[in-house]
Amino acid sequence: MASCISITGKNIDDYIKDHLVLLFSLRKSRIKAKKLAIMEAYFALYPVGGIFIKNGPLGNLKGVFSFLIPEENMAQALSILPTIGYCNKFYLLDFQTNTPENNSDLKNVSERDLVWKGKAFRISNFYFQDKGIYEKQSVDNRKFIILQNNKEKVVYGYRGDGSEMGRRALPVEDARCMVNLSMPGRAERLLDPFAGGGGIVYSAKYINKKIKVFSVDIDPVVAPGLEFYGSNHFTGDSSRVRFPAAFFDSLVTEVPFSSNATVNIIKAINNLKGSLKKDGRIVLMSSMNQATVLKKAIGDIGFYPYISQKVNRKGTDVAIMGWIKSYDKYKKLQAISSTVKSIS
Ligand SMILES: C[S@@+](CC[C@H](N)C(=O)[O-])C[C@H]1O[C@@H](n2cnc3c(N)ncnc32)[C@H](O)[C@@H]1O
Repeated sequence: MASCISITGKNIDDYIKDHLVLLFSLRKSRIKAKKLAIMEAYFALYPVGGIFIKNGPLGNLKGVFSFLIPEENMAQALSILPTIGYCNKFYLLDFQTNTPENNSDLKNVSERDLVWKGKAFRISNFYFQDKGIYEKQSVDNRKFIILQNNKEKVVYGYRGDGSEMGRRALPVEDARCMVNLSMPGRAERLLDPFAGGGGIVYSAKYINKKIKVFSVDIDPVVAPGLEFYGSNHFTGDSSRVRFPAAFFDSLVTEVPFSSNATVNIIKAINNLKGSLKKDGRIVLMSSMNQATVLKKAIGDIGFYPYISQKVNRKGTDVAIMGWIKSYDKYKKLQAISSTVKSIS
């Protein structure tokens, strides 16, 4: 099955006869990170056979893109949409009409925009994420448990100790996006080796309840909180901790942003690479300063990059990057990966 496609006047009927067109709209905070959003949507929709449309409808609107979804899988697609990080509004295009109609909340859509490859369509709101769930999951409101003076203490809004190595507050959208980029639908076990306040752990469990999450952090303070989120947690140094060979499907983590930590991050990845399965994935968020060094080091140990993009996180630029261990799987991702790379 193709991962992405260009639609023309000639092939449109072949697709819309048994596929629906779903339009994704990026949340404001990540409006510039369209490449990541498309890759996230691709991996999240992989179980339902979503196909990215390279030249989708309403391309003049900022922060939108679209996928073809097999009609029979639409109910399953609907169950995935709440777990997406970078997009929060989803619209359905209906081509069983001769009259263009905008029944959605989208503004600045003219009648002319509602004709695509010679076909008129109606657009309507399909699914909007619940702001309440997003807020409940955000670091400010999430319950966490820390170890203080050898006693467990329930806290809300836990952002670490503020030290260079101990800042912890991954936004919900990034945590979900990173987990989705690691293809969680097919994963049995996921590891976060720098787990901190548990943004990744929490989102992984939200996205796929069946996934077994493992975590490591050098700081004993966060251990009870990570266990509370359902992780098999280890307190220790990720560059030394041992796991069985070929044990994890993915390693997903926000690394400590200090450049003093970069050498140790590379040591940790070297230490853990053998514990990733042969088609294992690595998804990292790092500071922009660390990104070039990490890209080189992870390439050198035999992983292939399938996504990399800068994200502005409340005024600070960071990088989100993804690699895969299997060359064959990397080749299979080439079509979507290079299409997304060329998007401005
Ligand atoms: C950026 S924070 C992770 C934040 C997390 N994603 C969250 O949502 O809160 C990085 C974490 O790495 C931990 N850390 C630093 N060096 C480590 C090491 N060598 N091994 C394991 N954990 C380490 C720090 O204690 C910190 O909690």
